[in-house]
Amino acid sequence: MKKITKAVFPVAGMGSRFLPATKASPKEMMPVVDKPLIQYAVEEAVAAGITDMVFITGRNKRAIEDHFDKAYEMESELEARGKHELLRLVQDTVPSHINCIYIRQAEPLGLGHAVLCAAPVVGDEPFAVLLADDLIDADPPVLRQMVEAFGKHESSLLGVQNVPFSDTGAYGIVSVEPDRHGLQNVAAIVEKPAPEKAPSNLAVIGRYVLTPRIFHHLRQVQAGAGGEIQLTDAIAALIEEEPVLAFPFHGVRYDCGSKLGYLKATIAYGRKHPEVGQAFTEYLASLNVGGRA
Ligand code: G1P
Repeated sequence: MKKITKAVFPVAGMGSRFLPATKASPKEMMPVVDKPLIQYAVEEAVAAGITDMVFITGRNKRAIEDHFDKAYEMESELEARGKHELLRLVQDTVPSHINCIYIRQAEPLGLGHAVLCAAPVVGDEPFAVLLADDLIDADPPVLRQMVEAFGKHESSLLGVQNVPFSDTGAYGIVSVEPDRHGLQNVAAIVEKPAPEKAPSNLAVIGRYVLTPRIFHHLRQVQAGAGGEIQLTDAIAALIEEEPVLAFPFHGVRYDCGSKLGYLKATIAYGRKHPEVGQAFTEYLASLNVGGRA
C-alpha cells in the first residue's frame, strides 16, 4: 500500500465573498486570531504525516509563497533585537522537512481543474486535498483520522457532515449505502443540488483522500455546476469503478468561506488562544451575549 505523502491545496479562488479584504491579498491568508487559514490547513497535513505540500495558486497569491518561505530581513531583524519567541514563530510556519511546491492555475476553471493541475507532481499515488476555507477543530486532526482510515480501507475517502437541507446548494451532496467496516460507501454524489433535488443532507466538507485514478476522470469531465470543472463530477465517475467511502469525521467545522463562519471561528479560536484566550473569554462574558436577543 502506498503511503500518502502529498497534499493538494487549491488556493486560486477569488475570495469574492470577502471583498474588499481580498482585493489585493489571498483569502487563504486571512487570519483566525494570528494564523492564516492556509497555515492551519498545512499544519493539519503535517500532523497527518504529509511531507509534500502542493499549492495550486493563481493571480494575486504571491503572499502564500512568501508566507511559507524564509523571511530573511524579518528573521535577522528579530534576531538582532533578541526577540527569540517571535523569531521561532516566523521560522516555524513550516517544518524544515516539508517541501512546498507551487503550481499556477492560469484560469479559474473550477476545483476539479485545480486538482488536475497537481497531476504531474502527484503522479501515481493516493493523495489528499484540503480546502483551507473549511477550518476544522479536531483532535486528532481530521486529515490524520482520514489517512489512518485510508490505511485500513485503501479506498478514496470524503470528509462528510450533515448540513441543514436548506444549505445543500452550497455543497457536494452524497447518498450512502450501508456500512462497510464502519464506514459508508458513497452510492451517488452531486454538486450543489437544490434542497428538493438533494439525495440527502450529507455534505462533502473540504477534506478528501483520493486515489490517482481521479485524474483520469478529471481529464474526461465536462464543465458542470457553475460552468466549472467539478471535482464532484469526477468523483461521481470514480464511484462507478472503485469504492469511495464517506468519512463522518469527529470535529467542529467552521465555514471560513462565509463571513458568519469566519466570525464563529474567530470566537472559538480566540477563546482558547494561549495568550489572549482568558481575557477574551472574560470580555465575551462581560458583553452578556447569551442574555440578549
Ligand atoms: C467545494 C466543492 C463542494 C464541497 C465544498 C466544501 O465547493 O465543490 O463539493 O462540498 O467545497 O466546502 P465551494 O465551497 O468551493 O463552492
